Formats: sequence, C-alpha cells, structure tokens
Amino acid sequence: MYTAMKYWGKKPHNIWRQFIERYCPVDGTVLDPFAGSAIAAFEAVKAHRKAIAFDLNPLTTFIVEVLTSKFDEVAFVDAFSQIESNIKKDPVYVQHYTREYKGQRGVVFNYRWLSNEVVQLALEIPAELKAKTEKPKKYERNFIGADDSDRKKAKAMKELKIPYWHPTDKFPDSPTITHKFIADLGGNGFQHLWTRRNLYLLSRIFDEILRQKSDGVRLQLLFGFIQTLHLTSKMVVPRHVTAKRDFSGSWGRADYMIRRRQMEQNPLVVFRRSCIDKQGVISSLRDANASLPKKLKVLDFNESKKIRPTANLTYGILDIADLAKYITAKSIDFIITDPPYAGLVPYLDLSLVWLTWLQRLDKKYLPDLQSEITIKKGIIEREEYRRRLQNAFRQLHRVLKDTGYLIITFHHKKLQEWNDFVRAVRLAGFKFDKVTHQYNRRSGESNVANPYGTSGADFYIRCVKHRDVDFSDDKSGLNHFIVQKATEIIAQRNEATPYEFIIAGLVPEMLQAGYMQPKEYQDEILRVLLQNTGAGKCFVTRENKDNKAGDYWWFRNPSEIIDYPDRPLQDRLEETVLSILRRKVSVKLDDILGELFRTYPNGLTPDPKGIKSVLEKYAYRSAGNWKIKDVIVKNSTQHSKVIRQIINIGKKAGFMVYVGKREQPERDEDGTLLRDAADIQTLESIRSLYDPRQLERIEMIDVAWLSKRDSRIKCIFEVENSTLFAGAIVRGSNVEKDRPKFMVIPKNREEELQNVQDPLFLESFRENNWRYTTYEDIGRLVGYL
Ligand SMILES: C[S@@+](CC[C@H](N)C(=O)[O-])C[C@H]1O[C@@H](n2cnc3c(N)ncnc32)[C@H](O)[C@@H]1O
Repeated sequence: MYTAMKYWGKKPHNIWRQFIERYCPVDGTVLDPFAGSAIAAFEAVKAHRKAIAFDLNPLTTFIVEVLTSKFDEVAFVDAFSQIESNIKKDPVYVQHYTREYKGQRGVVFNYRWLSNEVVQLALEIPAELKAKTEKPKKYERNFIGADDSDRKKAKAMKELKIPYWHPTDKFPDSPTITHKFIADLGGNGFQHLWTRRNLYLLSRIFDEILRQKSDGVRLQLLFGFIQTLHLTSKMVVPRHVTAKRDFSGSWGRADYMIRRRQMEQNPLVVFRRSCIDKQGVISSLRDANASLPKKLKVLDFNESKKIRPTANLTYGILDIADLAKYITAKSIDFIITDPPYAGLVPYLDLSLVWLTWLQRLDKKYLPDLQSEITIKKGIIEREEYRRRLQNAFRQLHRVLKDTGYLIITFHHKKLQEWNDFVRAVRLAGFKFDKVTHQYNRRSGESNVANPYGTSGADFYIRCVKHRDVDFSDDKSGLNHFIVQKATEIIAQRNEATPYEFIIAGLVPEMLQAGYMQPKEYQDEILRVLLQNTGAGKCFVTRENKDNKAGDYWWFRNPSEIIDYPDRPLQDRLEETVLSILRRKVSVKLDDILGELFRTYPNGLTPDPKGIKSVLEKYAYRSAGNWKIKDVIVKNSTQHSKVIRQIINIGKKAGFMVYVGKREQPERDEDGTLLRDAADIQTLESIRSLYDPRQLERIEMIDVAWLSKRDSRIKCIFEVENSTLFAGAIVRGSNVEKDRPKFMVIPKNREEELQNVQDPLFLESFRENNWRYTTYEDIGRLVGYL
C-alpha cells in the first residue's frame, strides 16, 4: 500500500511495525508528528494500537484520506477507462502523442529532449493496430530519431490554448527555486513545470476527474493523477541504461532542477501506470483494504480540532509547535518519528508540485511554508532551525507518558547536524537510552545525501523521560573511548573493516556515552584513529578498492587483540542466511535483511551487497521470493537426519541431550522439530561453569551429551555436511579439553579432512581431544539401537 505514493524519506514499514509492537501496549496510542506518508499510523492501527499522524504538509492528510477510503474497484476502473477513452480522442492527444511509423500508427510514450530540442521518441505500436497478417504480438517498441514533423509539433505546442483549469501561481520565494531554474523553465509559475501539451492533457484529465460524481472514485483517481504530475514534468530525466527501463523516466533527486537531458512523458500513459499498474492505485488500495482493520474510525483533526478517544486513526495538518495545545499532557504511550534533517530535503517546496493542483479542490492543501522546520538560506537560518527543533522535542516531552518511549530515526554525515539534533533532544529533557544502527530496506532520506556506507541506514535512537544512570556528564577519556570501541567493533567483525562501518558502530556508542555534543568533536574520530596507526601503533589501514565505504582498518597484531580465532563476520553471516532459508524455504529479501540487521546490529551490520552474493550461493529467485536450492535442501535434510540419530544414540546411552540453537528449529525426516527431540533447549544449568562468550559459542554446537547426574558436558558432536571444519573446531574448543569431541562427516569428505594442513587447526584438533567419524558409522550404530 505504500509503493504508489512518492515521498522522500519513506521508512521501512516492517521495521517500524516491530518498534510499535515492542514499545506500545495494545490499544495504546502511537504518535508520529512528522508523519509524511503516515506509515507509522497505518502500521499502528494494523497492530491494534491507536494512531495520531500529524504533519505540516497537507499531503499527509491526502494520503490518509485516500488509503482509508472505501474502494469500489469496478467503479474505479470504469471511471478510469472512460477518462482514458475520452483523452485518446482529444485532438491534442492524437496530434502530439500518436504518430505514423512505417505505415502504422503508434503511441508516443515519451519524447527525449537534449538542450531544448526534441531528439528522439519512444513509440509503441499496440497489437490491435498492427496489420492482421502479421504474427500477433502484444506490442512493438521502437526508438526513433525525431524528424521535422516532431520538431514542428514541439514548436507549435507553445501556442496551444488551454480551456481547462490549471495552476498559474508563482513559485514561492525560496532558495530551493533558483533564478537559473526559472530561466531554464521559461517562466516563474507552476504552469511552466510542464510542456504546453502536457499541461493541456493534465488539465483535461484533472477536469474529468473533478467531474466524477462519487467522492471515493474522485479521490482515488486524484491519487493516480498526483503521481502523474511529477513524472510528466520537465524535471524528469531518462533512467540510466542499466535500469533497462527505456520507456519510463523519473524525478530522481529531491530538487527543482532542469537537466540537459530531459524526458517528456505521455501523461495518459503515466496516468494509466499510476492507476492500474503493479505499483499503482489499484494494488495500493487493494492492499490497504485488505490489511487495515475493517472497522476503522478515522478522524480528521482539522475538522474537530480535538483528539477523540473513540477514533483509531486521527490525522491532520499541524505545526508541531502547536502540538501540546491539542494533545493532553502525558497521554501518549509511544512516539516514533523521523524528523526533518536540517535542510536536506525541502519537503514543502517540493510537494507544491502536487499541492498547487489539490488546492483547486480545497484550500486546506495550501501549505504553511513559514512554519517548516528546515534551513533555507535567507529565510530560515540555522539558529531558527535549532529553536524550532528544540521546541518540537519539548512538545513531545510534554505529551509523552512518563513511562513512554520516544524513538527517533536520524542520520546525517555532518557532525554539526548531529550536534544540533542531540542538543535539541537533550534540552527537551529526554535521555538517550539506546541507539541502534539499522539498514533501511528502502532508500531513505539520508541516501539522498550519502550514497554509500552507513547511508542506506538510519540510527534508531530510543529516548526516555527518566533514566537512573545518566552517562552524559562523563566526558573523560574520549580518545581512549574511541580507540577502545573501534577495537571492539573490528574484533567482533573479525575482518578488515571499512571506515564507514567503524563509524556506524562508534556513533551510537558515543551518543549513548554523552560524547556527541560539543562541536569540537567534528573530526575527532578520524584524528584519534589516525593517531593510532603507524609504527608500533595498534591499527593498520589499507586502501579499499572494493567499494566506497572508506579504507580498511585492521590490527597490526590481530592475535594480541582477538582472544578467539573466531570466524570472520562474513562466515557467520553465511550461516545465518542458510539457517533462515532452511527454516522458511521461500522468503522475501526484506525479511532476510530484517533478521540479519537484528542479529548483527550497529558496527556489525553486514554490507548488503555481500548478503546478495551469499543468497545467490544458496538460493534462487522465484516470483519475487528467494528459495533454497535443491542441493542445499538435500544437504540440510541429511544434516538434520544425522543430528537426530546422534540425539537418539545419546538418549539410549543415558545422557541428557542438547541440540544447538541454530539446529533447534529444524525438523527430522518425520517432521519432528529437533528442539522437541532433544531433552533440553538451553544450557542454563551450566551457565556458572563458563564465561558468557564461551557459553554463547557452546550453545551453537550441533549436539552435546550431558550427564544426568551433574549436568556437565560429557561429549560433543559437530556435523559438517558442507561447511568449513574450522568453525566446528572453534566452537568445540570452548568445552573442556579432555571431553571427547566428534566431527561427523560424510564419507566423501574424509579425504578433505585428512588433507587439512593448517598447523593451528591440527594442533587444536589434537589438543582438544577431537576425533572424527562418518555418517555411515553413525547409521550403523543406530541400527544396533
Ligand atoms: C523526514 S520527513 C518524514 C517522512 C516520513 N518518515 C515518511 O515515512 O514518509 C519529515 C517531515 O516533517 C514535516 N515537517 C517539517 N516541519 C514541520 C513542522 N513544523 N510541523 C510538523 N511537521 C513538519 C515535513 O513535512 C516532512 O513530512
């Protein structure tokens, strides 16, 4: 339901849903005062919480009203088809967007312009127009060089009279809209955003929509129309060739800018896509109707100026500065919000592309540009931005219950922005409670500024009103702190780590420890880290040629720092992906990423590109999902089968059997969960015997047999079907040296194991009492049971 509407900084709804479920009680109230596309509110009501979605941008109101409207698909398609058929007959459409080519008449999908001249066009010959004698094809697409007739039409359109209403207001006075832009456009006014023929067709479609009798259908068609507006403007550029979407363009960057290469898209084609296609109004409303609660009480705040406890979803246009006027103090259970990041995206200015049209329907779509929290040179300066942001958090502090949580997403490359933000939150009285670094499944606002590294990710900052221990005054030893934390981050990953990933781990830690405030820490992190490289120092760096995430950082003497020769993050990642695939069989990329980012937070966050290659190793793509490859399933079935046999033998021999955490959710041949086949699911009883890091590793051992008398581990097994032997050795070597440890392998891996030359591996194998046995031997033993 979220794909149809363009909005900058849309957040991943599944991650937000989890936060809502975790921090707001059922029937409690969730507030998002910077709601944007209102994802928080929709997810809240889906999760049976009440929601309040406010934004200064009236577009939020529009989105909520559309997505909660009753959808009569038949009536919608009828109305759309009628409009489509009317436009197809319009002489302007026929003249400008249909064309002869090799004796046939086709539809012009787009004209390509280069430096104000039409140079090429994309033409589609629909099936019904093709000669009957030819083989039936759905359509045929051609790129044609523009000829004189195309250039003539482009010239002639300037004289077109437009009898339908369209916006004519001037652009607001804003640094977002430059003199150069106005000059490139050819005039100061919204009507110049479109070529004359597109303006004609858009205003005709708009006119047809406004004449619809059903309020619902009108609103839903407007939703499709809104998406058509920016995609048919002069700001559209052809997509990059690699996108393989020659027939459509995009308004990719969050700015008002005319590029040398432009694409003038056919408004009717785009309107059709926006209404009917996969990411259009129909799919969006079908999904909204299916996933939102049936008896949803929706309240337009701007009508009542009140929050009513009976409403499930209250929405409206509200400057956050006025929030506490309308929301009772200490009445909100949970706030989750994505505030504006200084002036990174000029939300209101950009939304005017849509709002100037919607104002024809209702004056409420006139936005209050003065009150936006942003920085606009010459209009809203940094000092004012700071004041507004601080006041915003003060309002939130007032309305949140004393026991409630506030979660804010934030990311900015510049530490100055961090400092302003942290100050605003602190001065309002909030305490930083926990910070996590989380990748966005979809690109968020920060990607606009920052195309790599930590950029596809946000920091999720959990704040509380009170906290018993506040570290914010302890500012001693910043250098020590940075080195210490960077060391931990690299050691945990156990691989040479790009700089951006160190930052991703460090920032939340520094924030929590209260180090982020003063401006002088701008370049502090890099300075301190660099001080610790070079002869005799702990870090070494190496150029990163693989990606743009900064140089690789690693230890001069890794063995002095890393206690356990554990496997690198990439290996652990592989194991986790495999275990998800085994458990779920068919799974969406989003869900895999979700689980990985929860398992490996902050500095441990894996590079999404690496995840893709791991997936390709173990799975294949099918209908939008990833499915585990057959050979992997076979391996995995055999793995579970052997584990089950070892469980049975252990039980028969009178042991208490434990099966590893990763294997617990797997099933044996009869469908029994290995967890249920084992005697115990945790190693609680022996917690006191090991340190927590050791125990964590022991819990990952495939099978352990424990004595029923004293609960001690007596013997362990690692079943290595296809994975590396080294991982098993590392895990198993956390158990006392004298306990027998078995590596169980298929017969065909025997030679591979016997050929291992690595001296560390061999020493550990011998010293820790390892032996190996084969699947076949285990099978034979089971035969005796
Ligand atoms: C980062 S965006 C939120 C995007 C949202 N997370 C989403 O998923 O679509 C910040 C929002 O703050 C809104 N905003 C800016 N100043 C405001 C103010 N004074 N009061 C309320 N909202 C404001 C902007 O209109 C924008 O929609």
